[in-house]
Amino acid sequence: MAISPKIVITDLKTPVNGTLVVLTDEDLAIGAAAKAALKPSGDLFQRVAKIEHFKGKRNKVLDLAAPSGLKLEHLVVAGIGKAKEMKAEDWLKLGGSIMGKLPAGVRNATVLAEIAAGKLSAEDAAQIALGMKLRAYKFDRYKTKKKDDDDEPKPAAAEIRIAVADATAAKKAWAAADGVGDGIVLARELVNEPPNVLFPAEFARRASELKKLGVQIEVLDEPMMKKLGMNALLAVGQGSERDSRLVIMRWNGAKKKAETPIAIVGKGVCFDTGGISIKPAASMEDMKGDMAGAACVTGLMHALASRKARANVIGVIGIVENMPDGNSYRPGDILKSYSGQTIEVINTDAEGRLVLCDALAYTNQRFKPKLIIDLATLTGAILIALGQEYAGLFSNDDKLAERLTEAGKVTGELVWRMPLAPYYDKMIDSKFADMKNTGGRFGGSITAAQFLQRYIGKTPWAHLDIAGTGMAAHNTEIGDSWGPGWGVRLLNEFIAAYCEK
Ligand code: BES
Ligand code: MN
Ligand code: ZN
Repeated sequence: MAISPKIVITDLKTPVNGTLVVLTDEDLAIGAAAKAALKPSGDLFQRVAKIEHFKGKRNKVLDLAAPSGLKLEHLVVAGIGKAKEMKAEDWLKLGGSIMGKLPAGVRNATVLAEIAAGKLSAEDAAQIALGMKLRAYKFDRYKTKKKDDDDEPKPAAAEIRIAVADATAAKKAWAAADGVGDGIVLARELVNEPPNVLFPAEFARRASELKKLGVQIEVLDEPMMKKLGMNALLAVGQGSERDSRLVIMRWNGAKKKAETPIAIVGKGVCFDTGGISIKPAASMEDMKGDMAGAACVTGLMHALASRKARANVIGVIGIVENMPDGNSYRPGDILKSYSGQTIEVINTDAEGRLVLCDALAYTNQRFKPKLIIDLATLTGAILIALGQEYAGLFSNDDKLAERLTEAGKVTGELVWRMPLAPYYDKMIDSKFADMKNTGGRFGGSITAAQFLQRYIGKTPWAHLDIAGTGMAAHNTEIGDSWGPGWGVRLLNEFIAAYCEK
């Protein structure tokens, strides 16, 4: 894992040294502790703000080195805009913006988590801390030379203190948020790792490390899956030198141990060449991220276990590599899936649904969960439809769809509902088998979802197509990681809001 600053919670009375961060609204009004701390500098902040045209707009951050009158290395002023409009996600982004502005080489930084109108809640303070943690994440394990002229903000602070009015409550909130942050970082790591390092057995090994947090782990290897009849998943991996795996992770945190669990299922294609229906060379390297669904599930399980979520959650990931080879599966092959339904392979590049159909049917049959949510970098078509801001949401259950949409709005990990209908379902009927694995050019994300729907029976189910959001992410306040760890916060929020009551 890349450098991660130590973040601690203190109270507003703790003496400050090194760098001080204060929050200001768009009237340039600051909190009481900030006022007291800045007193020896007179009207310095106001003067600098004027010269720099700094108006306290949200996520605009001002950095003053060696501020006169103050025993500080830096004074950093972060804008929150209109305090009343700040929501949980905005505090997170604010934390990220602050981290991005902390000067390289900073040793200690204290953020006064207060505003002119008064105290910040423990949760909001924890979101600032989480934003800082996420922004500090860097995937640079494979860079052996450090550039001198690298003027990117470096997370060099030895210790970051978040000073709040109620430190006891904030410590508790941060302990939980920090666990979620570790889950996001884990998901990012898994997506960023190159495919020669992260192949199915290695992915399974990393997921198995969640045992330390009290997650029960089962790893199914190829002979076990063969016995169970998971021939669709196995077909995808059969052209690879690297054996496939299915990992089952169980977190039993509900008060009633026997409570029916919910299940989260992820597509884990460690590398997707397309197989015999091989992909063009351009950007094929991106297909190392075709396991972002599985990475999210693994990161989520980490998050739930570390914050001891009061819910029973099963995470299942199907992990394979899709390669062309003398032993690869072919277009024209007919596969008998775990559910018993047969599939005519039209295109070996439509492999994600083959992995998921066995993982979904198995999860549904074995655990009879209350609901199933799957995440998959399933179709290029979802990028055409929604770009990289919203994930595609498909569901057979309006309540589940609404709740996921709501959790999306709270976290900023947005989902947009797409249709399912008999018309689209017909498009995957096959001449030779129960169904085919592609439905033609039109509505590609929908026919993929229709395919999955044939494997979940009547269980409330939602499918998130994260091909646009789960990898090759653009820079945001909370980081520039190629693998953004998308979905961990969304599902953590969904579970906290609707499954832990
Ligand atoms: N992993 C890809 C989808 C994908 C594309 C993810 C771009 C992320 C970025 C998936 O396995 C795939 O190849 N889908 C095909 C399906 C087609 C053959 C029906 C696609 O989208 O072209
Ligand atoms: Mn593919
Ligand atoms: Zn794929």
